[in-house]
Amino acid sequence: MSSFTTRVVVMISGSGSNLQALIDAQESNELPIKICAVISNKDNVKGLERAANHNIPAFVISHKAFPTREDFDARLMEIIDAQGPDLVVLAGFMRILTPGFTEHYEGRMLNIHPSLLPKYQGLNTHQRALDAGDKEHGVSVHFVTAELDGGPLVLQARVSIAADDNADTLAAKALKQEHVIYPLAVKWFSEGRLQLQNNRSYLDNKELPLEGIDLNDAEY
Ligand code: GAR
Repeated sequence: MSSFTTRVVVMISGSGSNLQALIDAQESNELPIKICAVISNKDNVKGLERAANHNIPAFVISHKAFPTREDFDARLMEIIDAQGPDLVVLAGFMRILTPGFTEHYEGRMLNIHPSLLPKYQGLNTHQRALDAGDKEHGVSVHFVTAELDGGPLVLQARVSIAADDNADTLAAKALKQEHVIYPLAVKWFSEGRLQLQNNRSYLDNKELPLEGIDLNDAEY
């Protein structure tokens, strides 16, 4: 392994299919990363099994054990920082993070969200796209800032909405694209090509458009 391996902590709350996509990319040497720990705020989730299957240390830290969000986030920071990560990857981590936390990892924390941000921040994104009569939906990777699902965009992929789609079929289509764009964005970061500067995303020192790069236009 090269000495430039990017140390990554992945945070999950559930199935961890995006975690799996990153593990697979790491193991096939597509990404110069080492996933040094997985942190879940929920016990008994599939993502923890995935970590165990690949001998990745996992920490379960329930938000319910802490009186305030600040206390929870302070403990999270202790656990994360003990791993000495270069990058924190939120992969279905379903907790709102405090500004103290997001500032601490500014420029080194990414999130994936199941919509074409800035559309549909928050929950139930697939149903909301259907209810709005959208013809197109998608997924987004962005740097994390204090604004929920609102940080500078890096990469998006689109999926078309068919007349017979429901929230489940649409979620499945979207998830497939998540497994393409998240490893790609992590690759760019780990190669030192992706940066956050002045609240904008840069790739190869070029400021990205506000909506990030469209996967279809990506020649990387
Ligand atoms: C993914 O669809 C991800 O975009 C979403 O949770 C799912 C996790 O799936 N994240 C959010 O909604 C964050 N706002 P996974 O556990 O199988 O990777």
